Amino acid sequence: MKETTATLKVFRLDPDADPEPHFDTYQVAVTEKMSVLEALFAILEQQDPSLSFRYSCRGAVCGSCAMYINGAYGLACRTLIENLKGGEIIVTPLPHLPVIKDLVVDMTAFYDKMTSVMPYLETGESAPEREFHQSPQARRALDEVTDCIWCASCHSACPLTWANKEYLGPAALTKVYRFVADSRDEAGPQRLQIVNREDGAWRCHTIFNCVEACPKNINQTEAIGKLRRKTLARRLKFW
Ligand code: F3S
Repeated sequence: MKETTATLKVFRLDPDADPEPHFDTYQVAVTEKMSVLEALFAILEQQDPSLSFRYSCRGAVCGSCAMYINGAYGLACRTLIENLKGGEIIVTPLPHLPVIKDLVVDMTAFYDKMTSVMPYLETGESAPEREFHQSPQARRALDEVTDCIWCASCHSACPLTWANKEYLGPAALTKVYRFVADSRDEAGPQRLQIVNREDGAWRCHTIFNCVEACPKNINQTEAIGKLRRKTLARRLKFW
C-alpha cells in the first residue's frame, strides 16, 4: 500500500491549565484499515504524550471511545480513516457533556440515569436452578435493544437532555424497554412506574437524533414508543 498521511485536528482542553479549548493539528502516517483510535494512539506514542482519550476493548463492544468525528457520532475504534471524506479529520469529545480533559468527558450524569432504571434482570421467585428457556420468538423481541454498549452517543445527541437534566434520555428509556420486553423479567410494573412521569417516557419529542447517533443501529425512538404504549396500557389496567 502506498504510504499516505492524514491530518487530524484534535480538540484539546485541560481545564486546570487552559482558559479556552483549542485544536491541535497532527500529521499521522496512515496504514491500511487504520482506525481513528489507532491514529490517536500514534499521536500519543510518537508526538504528544499529553493527549487524553478513553478506550478499552478496541472492538466496538465497550463504548468507551465514542467521539464526534467529522461532525458525526462514532466509535473511534470502528471508524476507519480511509472511509472519512475531506482533507482534515476533526475529532472532538461527545458534545454537551462536560469535558474532563481533551476527548475525555464526564459520564456521571449519564451513568446515574442508567443505574436509576434497574438495568438488570429481575427474576424473583421464578428463577430456575439451571438456565432459563426462552423461545426464539421471545428472544427476537430483544434483538436490537440488547446491543446497547452504554457509549452515551444518543444521550449526547438528544436536545431534550441538553435542556432538561432530569429527562431520563434515550439510553435509559431503551434500557427499561429492553427488560420490560424480556419474557424472563418479573419487574415490569415497577419499571413502568419508573418511566411513567413527565421526565420519563412522556418527555421524548420523537426527534430521532438518538437513532442517527447510535453506533449500534438501535432504534431508541421506536423502543420509547413501545414503552409508552405499555405504560399507557398499564395505566388503563390492560396489562
Ligand atoms: Fe431525544 Fe430521541 Fe426522543 S433524540 S426526543 S430521545 S426520539
